Amino acid sequence: MARQFGLNDFAARSVQKKIVLSPTVKRTVLITGCSAGGIGHALAKEFHSRGERVFATARNLESMVELERLGITVLKLDVTKIESIRDARDKLSVMTGGKLDILVNNAIMAVSDMDMNAARNLFEVNLYGAIAMVQEFVQLLITSGNGRVAHVGSIAGIFPLPFSASYNGSKAAVHALSNTLRVELAPFNIKVVNLLTGGVTSNISRPLFLPENSLYRPIEQILLQKRVGISQVTAMPTAQYARRVTTELLHSKPRAWFWLGDKSSLCWIFDTFLWKTSLVSLLTRAALYLTLLILSAYLLRMGYSSNHLDYQNLQVTLEVES
Ligand SMILES: NC(=O)c1ccc[n+]([C@@H]2O[C@H](COP(=O)([O-])OP(=O)(O)OC[C@H]3O[C@@H](n4cnc5c(N)ncnc54)[C@H](OP(=O)(O)O)[C@@H]3O)[C@@H](O)[C@H]2O)c1
Repeated sequence: MARQFGLNDFAARSVQKKIVLSPTVKRTVLITGCSAGGIGHALAKEFHSRGERVFATARNLESMVELERLGITVLKLDVTKIESIRDARDKLSVMTGGKLDILVNNAIMAVSDMDMNAARNLFEVNLYGAIAMVQEFVQLLITSGNGRVAHVGSIAGIFPLPFSASYNGSKAAVHALSNTLRVELAPFNIKVVNLLTGGVTSNISRPLFLPENSLYRPIEQILLQKRVGISQVTAMPTAQYARRVTTELLHSKPRAWFWLGDKSSLCWIFDTFLWKTSLVSLLTRAALYLTLLILSAYLLRMGYSSNHLDYQNLQVTLEVES
């Protein structure tokens, strides 16, 4: 019952451990985005430590030296390049006899505010990359007879964290993609799992830059100091995340949505028990007061008098939204 409703920590983990897939059967696992320090890297190590046959992939082979040393097969794979995907697929196919048991779509790009080129590139990796991977590997997954596809989704697809709207949008799209593929691939006995990931330690947090025309340009420094690295505060250790996800993916009945990582339980509560825009309303109000507070402090400090920002208009918009 608990599993059906996507309950994470409340589900009976002890029962689950007893019915994981037989450890004697070596399964083939392909993971995208396995650069050192990230979730893909940790997942590769975890599956490998459980005796599974792992194919770790990344754009840059040097970022997977540690994995190679452990005996994991590493392949170059850029999810935005169809030839690169096919090349990896053909190599894997030769090595496994044309079979893949578990595909983990983990690779991502993250950008801030709305620079259109960056936003398009981001969707190219986060959404179209995942679609291309499934399309190209689906025959191998069918041959497995009991295939799995995992999408490393994010609570950002549910939680409207500001200054990452395109990333959040791409993750919401991945959630919808996962749901639909779960239905479409069921007749082929392929189970699709959406990992609703909260904060996990990794390289995800990079310096962010607002585009030239950003409304928030005048207070960029203050905002970015507060915003960058926010997902890494109290984040779950990568190895712990990888352990739990690997157990789920090796389970005979992996659930459709699996919530894990810092703040994922909180999001689950909002998503399950409250109305769908509850988080949006909450954050809109919080953002309104916080922005006005920061703006006032900034303007007072700088003796602000230019017309950089249409302050009056901003206030009106915020009042309407609240
Ligand atoms: N960490 C968190 O708190 C958190 C929270 C929610 C969801 N997630 C999800 O977790 C997954 C892993 O992210 P992470 O936190 O481990 O971030 P990360 O450390 O930045 O890892 C991202 C990986 O994606 C790779 N990548 C980027 N563009 C690619 C492309 N075109 N083709 C193939 N690989 C590409 C990167 O390779 P390069 O090194 O070559 O750039 C890197 O290996 C993502 O799906 C992310 O949305 C993470």
